[in-house]
Amino acid sequence: MKLTVTPKPASSIEADLLALPVGRKELKKEGAALLEGLGLEGIALSDFKGSAGELTIVYRNSAGGGSKRIALLGLGEGKSTEDYRKAAEALARQAVELHCGVVAFDCSGLEDWAKHAKRSAESLAEVVVEGILFGAYRFDRLKSGKLDKEKKKEEKDTPKTIVELVLGGCGELAGAVEKGAHAGMAVGTCQNVSRDLVNLPGNHLSAEALADAAREAGKRGGFDVQVFDREKIAALGMGGLLAVNKGSEEPPTFTIMDYRPKGKAKKTVALVGKGVTFDSGGISIKPSANMDEMKSDMAGAACVIGVLEAVSKLGLPLRIVGLVPATDNMPSGSALKPGDIITTMSGITVEVGNTDAEGRLILADALTYAKREYDPDVIIDLATLTGACIVALGMKVAGMFSTDDTLAEEIIKASQAAGEKVWRLPLWDEYAEQIKSDVADVSNTGSKGAGTITAAKFLQNFVEGHEHWAHIDIAGPAFAAKGGGASSGGTGFGVRLIVELLKAWS
Ligand code: BES
Ligand code: MN
Ligand code: ZN
Repeated sequence: MKLTVTPKPASSIEADLLALPVGRKELKKEGAALLEGLGLEGIALSDFKGSAGELTIVYRNSAGGGSKRIALLGLGEGKSTEDYRKAAEALARQAVELHCGVVAFDCSGLEDWAKHAKRSAESLAEVVVEGILFGAYRFDRLKSGKLDKEKKKEEKDTPKTIVELVLGGCGELAGAVEKGAHAGMAVGTCQNVSRDLVNLPGNHLSAEALADAAREAGKRGGFDVQVFDREKIAALGMGGLLAVNKGSEEPPTFTIMDYRPKGKAKKTVALVGKGVTFDSGGISIKPSANMDEMKSDMAGAACVIGVLEAVSKLGLPLRIVGLVPATDNMPSGSALKPGDIITTMSGITVEVGNTDAEGRLILADALTYAKREYDPDVIIDLATLTGACIVALGMKVAGMFSTDDTLAEEIIKASQAAGEKVWRLPLWDEYAEQIKSDVADVSNTGSKGAGTITAAKFLQNFVEGHEHWAHIDIAGPAFAAKGGGASSGGTGFGVRLIVELLKAWS
């Protein structure tokens, strides 16, 4: 998507669709004048209430130039950035639906919006662009179109996505809008890269393909990428990753992404992402209903890849190391068995009570590697780790754990700014009782209850001694179930959250 920022009034721009964002209050006060100025009939006002994300399309005779198709776009109260995000997403969805290649967005109210929302014009422009990229996203690269014989020719010829976004009417704020909008482009595009990876099914995304995707992100962003193969993984003694990979026809990979800023880094941050490219459960096989959704079990990895590309494009003054242990989890004659005892890279032995609790086994090695190799100031892991997290918090909210209260608060603050919700859960030692093993140092499965917390307690063993660690269980919000149309599938959850957190440290 091309981005243009201009002081020129939006209504004079030749676009396929012109968005006129209006808050509920402004609509009451100035709605009639607004429509009159555009030569529109007042009837549009009776159909449109201005709630956040509400959209009414009206048409005008624009003999004097400008767009014929206008979207009245509700901003609701306009008090929270989420109102703007919702509106931008709804607009983009509609624009794609109507095959509008060029979309103009009227920013003349930006100064007022910024006041209402108590945010800078720059950050609101960022939210709007992120929202538009999010709403315009489609995963159609695996559709050949061969069966679309019914489709009209015009429909085939018109753009399937927004080709250009023009932010018009920016006046004196054009500079701020330009800055914010470009940041929004970086984050929004990288979040969509992450969604693409989550949406790719197991047969299109092996561990090696995931490593290739990290390499490509490295090329685009300009950061180093190194990939360990099975031999190197074995030489390092990554017994957790090897154990999960035992049943697979495809080799595991361990990918290291290393972004260094131009000047001195203010902090070194290690980000670890679970990269299970398909989770069948292994010998402790999962029920078949919805098992297809387990193609999304590498969403943590996808998030880390997206974050690295975004921070490198933003040029943040931090060193960020992204670590992705990757494999699928399959049953076979050579697969890991329940009861097996494995030795992780840390030397800690694990009794495998259930081969479906595989994520924590591969994360254990990655956490050990992060701590040993980089001595980072902060370690954060993101993983679609437990179904129990969905039971506890539902599909929209991630579970968050931290050994560091300040870090936890910083994550919560970033989550509010990013519009990606997290809820902190406890790491109390009582829960460690549940994962004690009679025959090994620890078990990978807990007894009844609190499955999300026992998983986090398991991981904590592998960062032992590191004071600044957080674990984010994204099992719920990483993937939206089928039936949501264009919004179903990978969400790229965590990209905005982590970028926001890293920006706060910059
Ligand atoms: N990948 C799953 C967790 C998951 C479930 C993510 C549903 C997204 C949606 C994970 O590997 C898993 O299977 N966890 C088990 C752990 C149990 C065996 C201790 C679970 O949650 O049931
Ligand atoms: Mn599993
Ligand atoms: Zn899993």
